Amino acid sequence: MARSIVKIISEVPGPKSRQLYSEMEQNVPRGAAHLTPIAVSSAKGATVTDVDGNTYLDFAGGIGVLNVGHCSDEVVKAIKDQADNYLHVCFHVLIYEPYIRLANKLNTITPGQFPKKTILVNSGAEAVENAIKIAKYHTKRYGVLSFLEGFHGRTALAVSLTGQIQPYKYNFGPSIPWVYHLPFAYCYRCPFGQTYPSCEVVCAKYVERVFESAISPDAIAALIVEPVQGEGGFIVPPKEFLPELYRICKENGIAFVADEIQTGFARTGKMFAIEHSQIEPDMIVTAKSVGGGTVLSAVTGRAEMMEAPHVGGLGGTYGGHPLSCQAGLAAINIIEKDNLAGRSISIGKRLKEALCAMQEKYPIIGDVRGLGAMVAIELVKDRVTKEPASKETALLRKKCYQNGLIIIGAGIHHNVIRFLVPLVITDEELNEGLSILEEAIRSIQI
Ligand SMILES: Cc1ncc(COP(=O)(O)O)c(C=O)c1O
Repeated sequence: MARSIVKIISEVPGPKSRQLYSEMEQNVPRGAAHLTPIAVSSAKGATVTDVDGNTYLDFAGGIGVLNVGHCSDEVVKAIKDQADNYLHVCFHVLIYEPYIRLANKLNTITPGQFPKKTILVNSGAEAVENAIKIAKYHTKRYGVLSFLEGFHGRTALAVSLTGQIQPYKYNFGPSIPWVYHLPFAYCYRCPFGQTYPSCEVVCAKYVERVFESAISPDAIAALIVEPVQGEGGFIVPPKEFLPELYRICKENGIAFVADEIQTGFARTGKMFAIEHSQIEPDMIVTAKSVGGGTVLSAVTGRAEMMEAPHVGGLGGTYGGHPLSCQAGLAAINIIEKDNLAGRSISIGKRLKEALCAMQEKYPIIGDVRGLGAMVAIELVKDRVTKEPASKETALLRKKCYQNGLIIIGAGIHHNVIRFLVPLVITDEELNEGLSILEEAIRSIQI
């Protein structure tokens, strides 16, 4: 099919990318993985151009960071304007307006009809660490519940909460104690071998078993959950799952923490995915798209909970950097004024329609699922046994980037392709990307 946006003028990776790749191998440890061998030179909206002059459609969006697109004019302007004033003073030394405005904005737009406060930090993992520290301090309890297949980051506590061995936990030694993993509502591969709705969402009730045999509920500070699991493979739980967990938390004085790092900021068709369940979490952790492409994360929660830790117990040198705060304010403004939540719904509809049509033609697509524009396909060797098509998924990613489409995987079996397209993508760009994807899927049929 003729391409109007994608332009591949050299082999991929081209000579300049290959050169940089080899320099990278000499200087950077292999642990910092890279999903393509392509070196970027510029990016705009939903496209990236590499150092060899090839232009690609970006369906990965920096792993969910670019809901407002690459280098949005407004975000870039906000950063430049701020850079003319001051770069860094450290919020613990001199307070500044962008931090306070952003904290106020997050307190306002997050669900929950109660007074809230926000602390700004840098990475998703750092926000997760802070949320759990705050919950522990507030409740004076030290247990934490998280989920199998869940992902919360790579720092010591965050990786302990994470429910995936490869590549995150393997060989890194013992977890932080008192973390208990619960089964998630992964209906395509039900951990209880049941089918929704006749299962009566038995997975949500499993927590009662944990209370009986592993840890008493009055020792648990927090339950942390992704409303839709991200790295786990875009797993959307049935509508009863999160409210049931929330009810159990409320009955037992456990802080309910929603990890909206990947799901937040209109990705699922609402500003926050937890809004689909009409739950008011005690704390919400955000990162990725909150910063419009800059380094930023946040914990927003009930004021009395957030106020628990003593002065100096929270923070860090760079938390709420002025450039990031300005970028974040600009990004949230774009999401609101351009109704990116509405756009997320229409992108999701188009993605699902196209992917379901492909599923009918290509047996390798075992499942199509998602919420709003947070959509994924799970690839299997056999639809009955559901044997994961992990190697084929890696091959599909390669064929796609060689033909001008950047896509990334997910899932504990590495057999899920997830779509995190910038929500500013045009219909033409979306359709062109989907046609590249279909050609690649056709070529790797098993
Ligand atoms: C749901 C979720 N939580 C936490 C993190 C960790 O964020 P970071 O990589 O910024 O530490 C991620 C990153 O992918 C995520 O998707």
